[in-house]
Parts: sequence; C-alpha cells; structure tokens
Amino acid sequence: MSEPKKLYIKTYGCQMNVYDSERMAEALGGAGYVETATPDDADMILLNTCHIREKAAEKIYSELGRFRGLKTARPDLTIGVAGCVAQAEGEEIMRRQPMVDLVVGPQSYHRLPELEAKARSGEKALDTDFPAEDKFEHMPARPKAKRAPTAFLTVQEGCDKFCAFCVVPYTRGAEVSRPAARVLAEARDLVERGVREITLLGQNVNAYHGASDGGDWSLARLVRELARVDGLDRIRYTTSHPNDMEDDLIAAHGDEPKLMPYLHLPVQAGSDRILKAMNRKHTAEQYIRLIERIRAARPDILISGDFIVGFPGETDADFADTMALIRQVGYGTAYSFKYSARPGTPAAEKALVDPQVADARLQELQALLAEQQRATQESMVGRDVSVLFEKPGRQPGQMVGKSDYLHAVHVADDTIAKGDIRRVRITRSGTNSLAGTLVG
Ligand code: 5AD
Ligand code: SF4
Repeated sequence: MSEPKKLYIKTYGCQMNVYDSERMAEALGGAGYVETATPDDADMILLNTCHIREKAAEKIYSELGRFRGLKTARPDLTIGVAGCVAQAEGEEIMRRQPMVDLVVGPQSYHRLPELEAKARSGEKALDTDFPAEDKFEHMPARPKAKRAPTAFLTVQEGCDKFCAFCVVPYTRGAEVSRPAARVLAEARDLVERGVREITLLGQNVNAYHGASDGGDWSLARLVRELARVDGLDRIRYTTSHPNDMEDDLIAAHGDEPKLMPYLHLPVQAGSDRILKAMNRKHTAEQYIRLIERIRAARPDILISGDFIVGFPGETDADFADTMALIRQVGYGTAYSFKYSARPGTPAAEKALVDPQVADARLQELQALLAEQQRATQESMVGRDVSVLFEKPGRQPGQMVGKSDYLHAVHVADDTIAKGDIRRVRITRSGTNSLAGTLVG
C-alpha cells in the first residue's frame, strides 16, 4: 500500500463547520488521507471558511497568503477552500489567489474525493452546486474509532428566514432537514464510540422537520426519541429562531431531563423598528414573553443570545431599547457583533451608522453582557451541578468539563476519568470558568 497522504484542515466560524470538517476529513480518508496537525508537511491544505462577517471572510485571503511559500516549494501541494466563503465567492477565490487548486461549497463536499483527484491531475476543481442529492447519503460510513465524549450532529441546514443582514440563506441555501431515522442511526453510532453528549446543529435547528415513517418529526419529537438512546446522557441544540420555538419544544425543556438547561435564542436587537428592518418578524415584547414561557417550563434555564449593533438606521433610542431588553431578559452568556454589510443582502444597500458610534455602542453592550455573565457564573457558587469531564486541566490532577449550564468547570480529583459525569459542588467563580469539588 502507498504511504498515506497528509491532510491539514483548518476550521473557521460556527459549530457546523466543525462538524463539516470532520466529515470532509472522513471523505478524504477514503481517498488515502490522514490528518496532520501542521500545514508544513501536508499534501493537502483545506480551509473550511466562514462568510458571516467581512472580517471572517477577509481573514481567509491573508491565511492563504501565508501558504504561498509552501506552495512554491512544493507545487504538488493541493490547496483547497471549503465552506461559506467558497460558496459565496467561488471562482473569484482562484482569481484572487491563483495558487488555490480546489473550491468546494458546503453542499457538495461529498464530491471532495473526485475534486481532489481532479486538482491533483493539475486542473482547477470547483463545485459550488446545491445538488439534488443528499450529501450525507453519499459520504463514506463514519469510522468506528473511540472519540471524545461530546459531539456535534447536523440535523438541519440552510435558512428560509432571510434576515436582512445575513448571508446564510445564500451560502447554505434553503432549509433542509435530515430524515429522523438517519439522525438517530448516526447518534447511536456516536454513542457506541463513547459519546455521551450530542449537540444537534442547524442554522435554524428548531425549524427541524425531518421526514420519518411517513410522518413529519419536530425537533421536540427528535429530542425525545434521542433521549431514549441508552448511553446518551445529554442533548443540546443550536441555533434557534424565536418564531420556531414551538410549544412541544418548550414542554420538552420542562420534562425531558436529558435536554440540558441552556438555550441559545438570538434576538439580535431590542427595538421593534430595527427588528422590522432586520426582517425578524417578531417584536421585542413577543421575544420577552417567549423567554417567560420557556422559564416557566424550566426555571433554571440559562439563556444565551446574539446581538448586532449599528444595524443601518439604528438610533440612540433603538440602541437603548436593546440595552433595556438585555436587562429585562438577563443573559447567562451572549455574543455580540458590530454590523458588517454583506454583499448580496438587502441591508447592504443601506447607509451605515457612523463606525465610531457603533463601536461605542458595542462596548457599552458588551460591558452589560459581561456583567450579566459574571453574575450568572457567581450565582453558581454553592450550587451542585453535573459535569461531563472532557479533558485534563492545566494543573496536575485536574480535570475540566462542562456543567449542564455549559459553564467550564475545573475539579482537582484523581478519581475522575474523561467521559465521567459527576455531581460537583461549585466553590469558586473565575474569569471564564468555575471550580468545584466532587459531591458525595
Ligand atoms: N453583521 C454582523 N453580525 C452578523 N451576524 C450575522 N450576520 C451578520 C452581519 N452581517 C451575527 C448574528 C447571528 C450570528 C451568527 O452572527 O448575530 O446570529
Ligand atoms: Fe441568518 Fe439566522 Fe436570520 Fe437565518 S435566521 S437569516 S441564519 S440570522
């Protein structure tokens, strides 16, 4: 047998890209590749990219520039760009960086082995189709090797919401759900390989409608069925849209113990005028009422969100509404971004807010969110939580894991093994993590 070729794959952006990178590495595994941790000795470099904001997309070009020396020294090195920049910019990438041999979009990476062979033969290989076939059905079977105790599993892709700022409906395409039976089979397989926690992924995951046995499964039904899988102890899902938060899913948060008490539910802004301009199709009040219903079902649930500041037309009063919403909801954690105009999106036509004003607002908003995050973490001190341990910590004898609320928790105790779920009493809150001791 010939020597395996080496693949260096670097992932940017969201959790779905992390999942996709795993699957792409598996697809290329069938073509004789094994993964390597450095680009220096790689036969193929693959960047799995993100197009959500300008900064993320531009970073790819500077990253590619850094590989120029390697490509000059070894012209047979294959350089590929995958993911959402590939989808959005296609051939343009090869024009801007002629050393790129291969461009593949997120919906066609099952064709990677063919594309790699084409690139290797010296031709440029490009595929940014939205093919009719389901890529997952054309992927090699997943390997059987043991793996980390937590895993991502894509159940839904694409988005039909068309928020005015967002490229996702263009880069990931229309909403598609994977059949429930396939998801369940993949989940069982992951559990056999040592996985105890699965995060179900989708750009609009709570809009999941997976066909199964002639029926149409909601995300709640999928979660309940997954909860029956022995050995799977924790279920999470992300990212959700407020308008798809159906009653059955809210109920599952109340009575399905394996569904973790953490929900990422972005609202983006707190001003009705801006929400309308963003095409979010709900008001601030509707969102707040929704959070109340979710908290009625599961009082300790930790809410997370995304915010955009400086959306075109945002006034001081609009921004004040966003700050008021944040105060009213009380976030356990949240992500916030300065608006970035994205080519092809409706909002890109509109005049920008003064960048200095937007920067100042972002700082103010982030200070409030950081304060809420700190207070939420502090409130854990003295409480008992369950922690799934994932890896050794920096101190000797210490292990790190995630609590049900997704906080990182450090415990020094040499009876803890990777993959254990243990009750932990939280004793201290640090900058970005908690510390505690085993209970009982
Ligand atoms: N500018 C800034 N932030 C954006 N997001 C999406 N598109 C943009 C944009 N054009 C943010 C939203 C979304 C998160 C994944 O990224 O908050 O929820
Ligand atoms: Fe983008 Fe999310 Fe809006 Fe879809 S729902 S367009 S992915 S921000």
